[in-house]
Amino acid sequence: MDKFIVTGGNRLTGDVYISGAKNAADAIIPATILSDGVCRIENIPNISDVAIFARILKEMGAKVRMVNKSTMEIDPRPIASMVAPYEPVRQMRASSYLLGALLGRFSRAVVAMPGGCDFCVRPIDQHLKGFSALGATYSLEGGMVDVSAKQLKGNNIYLDMVTVGATINIMLAAVKTPGLTVIENAAKEPHVVDLANFLNTMGADVRGAGTDVIKIHGVDHLEGATYSIIPDQIEAGTYMVAAAATKGDVVVHNVIPKHLESITAKLEEMGVTVEEYDESVRVIGCDHLNKCNIKTMPHPGFPTDMQSQFAVLLSIADGTSIINESVFDSRYRYVEELRRLGAKISVDGRIAVVEGVKELVGAPVKAVDLRAGAAMIIAGLVARGVTQIDEVEHIERGYEAVVEKFRSLGADIRVASVPEKVPAKAL
Ligand code: EPU
Repeated sequence: MDKFIVTGGNRLTGDVYISGAKNAADAIIPATILSDGVCRIENIPNISDVAIFARILKEMGAKVRMVNKSTMEIDPRPIASMVAPYEPVRQMRASSYLLGALLGRFSRAVVAMPGGCDFCVRPIDQHLKGFSALGATYSLEGGMVDVSAKQLKGNNIYLDMVTVGATINIMLAAVKTPGLTVIENAAKEPHVVDLANFLNTMGADVRGAGTDVIKIHGVDHLEGATYSIIPDQIEAGTYMVAAAATKGDVVVHNVIPKHLESITAKLEEMGVTVEEYDESVRVIGCDHLNKCNIKTMPHPGFPTDMQSQFAVLLSIADGTSIINESVFDSRYRYVEELRRLGAKISVDGRIAVVEGVKELVGAPVKAVDLRAGAAMIIAGLVARGVTQIDEVEHIERGYEAVVEKFRSLGADIRVASVPEKVPAKAL
């Protein structure tokens, strides 16, 4: 088990290079199961979510190898089983995409209920509603989801809420399903579009991704393909906030500035300067951050995955700000940790009230989930003294080389390996 030790006070300056998007990789890797050829996925982030997915596919029979540091080659043809291995599936939320991919390929999928960040209850009823509309039946027993169909057939599906997961899972199930599938009230996130582009590169007929109506004409066959994953919007946003929080001056490279608009807008509202270039943004901090209110929304609204990082920034802003988390029932487990550093935040349901304080002071905290962990790093960077962050495996699920990247910007952050506890009986 590792910890991160962060000593606050350094201003971040320099250049940071953003990796491929975690949430796109999480959709595109299982999508390769639908292919009848070898797929080469470029710009793959080196994060533990990807490693777990590679392990799952390998255990199911696929040939998976890294061609170089960021290119993964997957030959899904040897996969003969529609049952996903239990233990690695339980470690990640996105393993639910195996349901759509295996259903699309074998007309049956048996997959454990997904794990991943447990900041609140995360149901999959809309995924199952979509599969049912395509003609599948399902059972939930012993923690396993078993979905099967004699013959899938395209259909119209209206999602009750905007959900990334259900949109992606239905796309995966529908892409080789005969007939026309129409997903209404679909999610519009960049990774939904990236998945559609990958599927179309393989020969699928998916139209409308990026709008709230996606139309999928089922095809018989998908070829192998070479495809490069988009840059990670949230990793980029995290470094942008870190630059602002430390009054730094950082150029964030390998980004699509359009994907960052909602984040850029909020930083500018707080007084931060953001310069946009073709594939990079420069963030220049300011002496006094203005308070500002944030409401998380599906894309193109302000992303829930940036909520905790902004909470750190609002904690050191002038005045009182309000956060309204409208995507998840609750995503404030990290607040207790920030309070240990002196942040003044009160939470009532989906609303958090953040009262700006003069300074944060280092303390031991834990990364309660992936994005909350990133927020703890930013908090540690601005806090006086030393912040020790436990449970950093959550951060490593989604941020490539996070310590190296922050260090390259001048952050004082290091990894401390903590020996596993030896049970008393063994002594
Ligand atoms: N929801 C349902 N029923 C469903 C599906 C979703 O009620 O069947 C609800 C959820 O409980 C939530 C809302 O709908 O209140 C939206 O959930 P969504 O399905 O969009 O989230 P997700 O697919 O589980 C993905 C990302 C999350 C990100 C959300 C929202 C991946 C692997 N995960 O989760 O990313 O927060 O979309 O944008 O793509 C992260 O990267 O840290 C992360 C948690």
